[in-house]
Amino acid sequence: MHKVENINKQKALIIYFSGTGNTKGVAKAYADSLESMGYSSALRSLEAYLERQEDLASDLKDVDILAVGGPIYAGNVPDLLIHWLRTSLSKITGREAGANKRIRALTFSTSAVIDNAHGVHSLSAKLKKKGFAVVGEQAYVMPRNFYIDKYAATPLEEQRALWSKMPEQVTSHLASVLGAGTAAQVQEQVQVQSNRPAMSALGLIGIDLLADVFRIMAKGMGKDYAASDACTSCGLCVRQCPKANITIASSNTNSTANAKAASKATFGKQCMLCTRCIHQCPVNAISYKGKTIEQYRPQF
Ligand SMILES: Cc1cc2nc3c(=O)[nH]c(=O)nc-3n(C[C@H](O)[C@H](O)[C@H](O)COP(=O)(O)O)c2cc1C
Ligand code: SF4
Ligand code: SF4
Repeated sequence: MHKVENINKQKALIIYFSGTGNTKGVAKAYADSLESMGYSSALRSLEAYLERQEDLASDLKDVDILAVGGPIYAGNVPDLLIHWLRTSLSKITGREAGANKRIRALTFSTSAVIDNAHGVHSLSAKLKKKGFAVVGEQAYVMPRNFYIDKYAATPLEEQRALWSKMPEQVTSHLASVLGAGTAAQVQEQVQVQSNRPAMSALGLIGIDLLADVFRIMAKGMGKDYAASDACTSCGLCVRQCPKANITIASSNTNSTANAKAASKATFGKQCMLCTRCIHQCPVNAISYKGKTIEQYRPQF
């Protein structure tokens, strides 16, 4: 009985990049909400595809809805996501001409403020270029994960409020863009439903250039990461870094002090500033510019 229902269900695929869990939480709310609307949904991180690109083709097979989301870094989504959309997604979706037009696409971002959440424009433009029918764009305000230099962390009460109202925002957005009409009916239209800021004065080329410049800046800024002596060499940050930018050098010295220094997490030159390592280190051993910060752990 259950099997028959699944065969008739329309299929949704949600692809996201998330440094510290906000975008993952929103992506999961998309999956849950789509399930409750009668779709079957699959949730995939970009990193899963970076490891196993071959899974993308089968995941995209017979997809009716494709949602793509990422966090905002300096006004755009990370260059890692933009680059992947431009390259890998286009290779896979270059099936028969016009095939993507039948797929309704949704784009979303998470950021600490809405004003410079221009990344949804960039995501939508990439998907439109591949021929997808973009029907919804949404920018969600979520707690700030980057408060190392000048910004302050989102107060705990506000964090709770943002997490608790987000699923309802997702549900009402999806109901407004998918409530009526089948994939076939959207071929002609597209009246995009969205909540995102107006396009930056820099334009699309400008904001994509910004993401490219930020990628280079992040590599430089990432040199200011360091692990303190509290580091237990557990290896979690090494395993979780999306850029494979962290190593733990094995020690070949007899001195205890030198051995400790040599077995700490060490940062390379490929950082994308996602801040995952800082927030998820079990002993908060990672500092930026010599400062440790209170960790952000989404758990609401
Ligand atoms: C390097 C970096 C730059 C950021 N820049 C912005 C920004 O320009 N505007 C903003 O509102 N939030 C900014 N943020 C905050 C994040 O966009 C926000 O906390 C987001 O929800 C994090 O999502 P994640 O947990 O999925 O990584 C930045 C965060 C990082 C790590
Ligand atoms: S910095 Fe933290 S997460 Fe990384 S190895 Fe050390 S203790 Fe583990
Ligand atoms: S080293 Fe850079 S890219 Fe790797 S987890 Fe830390 S902040 Fe992210």
